[in-house]
Amino acid sequence: MNVHGVPHRSLREAPDGGAILAVDQTRLPGEFLECRLGSIGDVADAITAMRVRGAPLIGIAAAYGLALALRDDPSDAGLDRATDLLGATRPTAVNLAWALDRVGEMVRPLPPPVRAEAAWRSAGAIAESEVAACLAIGRHGAELLRRLERPAGRALQILTHCNAGWLATVDWGTALAPIYRLHDAGVPVHVWVSETRPRNQGLLTAWELGAHGVPFTVIADNAAGHLLARRNVDAVLVGADRITRSGDVGNKIGTLLKALAAREFRVPFYVAAPLSTVDLSIRDGASIPIEERSPGEVVGTSTLPAINPGFDVTPASFVTAIITERGVAAATEAALAALRAGDSA
Ligand code: MRU
Repeated sequence: MNVHGVPHRSLREAPDGGAILAVDQTRLPGEFLECRLGSIGDVADAITAMRVRGAPLIGIAAAYGLALALRDDPSDAGLDRATDLLGATRPTAVNLAWALDRVGEMVRPLPPPVRAEAAWRSAGAIAESEVAACLAIGRHGAELLRRLERPAGRALQILTHCNAGWLATVDWGTALAPIYRLHDAGVPVHVWVSETRPRNQGLLTAWELGAHGVPFTVIADNAAGHLLARRNVDAVLVGADRITRSGDVGNKIGTLLKALAAREFRVPFYVAAPLSTVDLSIRDGASIPIEERSPGEVVGTSTLPAINPGFDVTPASFVTAIITERGVAAATEAALAALRAGDSA
């Protein structure tokens, strides 16, 4: 998307082919700069330190990390070691394992000397297919949001949480893709951006919306219920890190409280995610691994007892619909299975 009129992506191949260049998200919103990641160690560190973050983006970065590792050691053992190292960087977003599996399955049957190059091309193909998925999510989501009832003459009011924009997905975003699409088509839209303590990913959302020219207002996480109760929100729209096959949604901590409030005040609660975020291997949201992050992110250097779960699970029954690249589905096992039916075709 645009940064003050100039199109950017949050991750790209370095022109010399020796690395990937990724926007350093820990420097935003203050500074917009890229970091060069030229080895598996660089990529793993960037994911762990959240310089590179967001479910689809960490999958794509990990795929490139695997390709970089295979340049040094293309053996079966090297492939296994690299997959384990990258797979252990963050636990909740299934896109990470999904992307590593795809690259691994593609290169393992190949002779070691050609694996690194094939993995690099595969990582590039994954990046392009995720961008295409986000574009399609934008199309389907915009159609859905356009039809929402709202007072005549008032801009569409969308509440979002965390950052599910182009920073988190290479381009377009998941939850933000429909918003960019509506804005670019001239539909008046305003976004309530929940700040998303403790890591403040909402400020990344605010930065990217502002840089593209989409009107927004940042709110404290605790203000969301108040806005929903006062009918200042036409829809809640969030991304996801892992959706179970029955439609339970793992997403950034604080999502569940928004879903609860939205349900109480009868405001639609939509989840936008590519099918790479749907984990068919688990049915129940209770099986989604929840990242436990450092208590220091909550209480700083004090020794106060604290816990810091990074994600929560919104039950499928709270989700009005899931917006994917193949269309909008109810959050049910049957509807998600129908969307996945074309997978092997
Ligand atoms: O900042 P992270 O990597 O911990 O958060 C992941 C996310 O970006 C969100 O949960 C988001 O809503 C889904 S990813 C587009």
